[in-house]
Amino acid sequence: MNILILGSGGREYSIGLALSKENEQHEIYFMPGNGATNDLGTNINIKDYNDLASFAKENNIELTIVGPEQPLVDGVVDIFKANGLTIFGPSKAASQLEGSKVYMKNILKKYDIPTAAFIETNNKNEANNFIDKMKNLPIVVKADGLCAGKGVIIAQTKDEAKESVSKMLSGESFGEAGANVIVEEFLDGYELSIFAICDGENYVVLPAAQDHKRIGDGDTGPNTGGMGAYAPTPLVNDDISKKVEDKVIKPTLEGMKKEGAPFEGVLFIGVMVVNGEPIILEYNVRFGDPECEILMPLLETPVSELFYKGATKQLDKLKIKIKNKYGVAVVMASANYPYGSSEPAEIIVDKINDEELENNSHISYAGVTKEDDTLFATGGRVLLCVGFGDDIKTARNRAYDLCGQVHFAGKKCRTDIAYQALK
Ligand code: AMP
Ligand code: GLY
Repeated sequence: MNILILGSGGREYSIGLALSKENEQHEIYFMPGNGATNDLGTNINIKDYNDLASFAKENNIELTIVGPEQPLVDGVVDIFKANGLTIFGPSKAASQLEGSKVYMKNILKKYDIPTAAFIETNNKNEANNFIDKMKNLPIVVKADGLCAGKGVIIAQTKDEAKESVSKMLSGESFGEAGANVIVEEFLDGYELSIFAICDGENYVVLPAAQDHKRIGDGDTGPNTGGMGAYAPTPLVNDDISKKVEDKVIKPTLEGMKKEGAPFEGVLFIGVMVVNGEPIILEYNVRFGDPECEILMPLLETPVSELFYKGATKQLDKLKIKIKNKYGVAVVMASANYPYGSSEPAEIIVDKINDEELENNSHISYAGVTKEDDTLFATGGRVLLCVGFGDDIKTARNRAYDLCGQVHFAGKKCRTDIAYQALK
């Protein structure tokens, strides 16, 4: 198949890598890709979505896969479909599940899907009254729109919550994205990332994963895009899985149909498990990064088949097969991540002499640029060392062994990925 992948991160690299390992040979294009994706295919640079659709037609692209949320929220799927192209992802309307937290919370409320008690408002007094009535601390304040993962404030006092609301509504914190806010109760539990591949009607659920959002070991320091992930997590049992399907995925797909915005694509369900009950923190409308980097290699079913059937309403005909293995991905970040950018640094990967390690690990490249034949770390999250094994501990040891083979100035990573599973 000729396949186009939109995006430039480790997530998109991992989709390309999985495609390149299939029995069927694919011609892969990345828009824009990164310094390593052109080892897997061809990087192109066409920013306008109408021009990109023309490129897809001219080059007989049979499937387009969208990595990040922004093109989805901008309506790339609608444009491609209007051009008769096959693309896997939600429409602009359905992408509002991620594009607007107010829209998402109202869908959860309307279809009786478990979520934190909240108010949504653009009025400071209304928010302050709600905050005054809240019984517990901390209090969570969220900007409505996309804020690159920074739009959530966990306020430790009522005054701090009110100040956060005020700064969001005035536009000081997040500009237009803060014109509406959500104030909600804090949920105390453990977080899961659950992914349902949807075709508007049917769905398949992938193994549950855990991300590690904070920069520091033991979940300390500021939030990042995600410093590592593993799957499947033993923190999910059959009861939680069933509840997520019955109380969350099914009513969401039904609800989105009723809204006239059937959901096709990856429904990323951010779950907090509180006393054994899965409560929805948020939806995203695409794969998580770094979760994607472990889920792609755990699929036995060809990735192209999964996404193609997702894009063409054929998921009812798919029996998904998952490898009987665990995966752990450790993000290697640059020196100043997540505070600022760092000087480009040459990446050197030692030759791996251990056959076990060689066969059960790989690198997923993210914030890298190639000059001549040398790779440089140029982004915040530079690359991921991914290890596999028959148990989480073995997979984790392999991921960290691989980290030891990778060198660039200022490299840093968390040393405790998957700790919640190994406690
Ligand atoms: P979001 O952008 O909604 O995923 O929020 C970012 C992070 O903030 C989540 O991954 C959680 O760790 C945390 N968070 C968001 N909402 C809540 C909540 N109601 N209670 C506790 N933590 C939350
Ligand atoms: N792993 C979290 C995210 O992609 O938003």
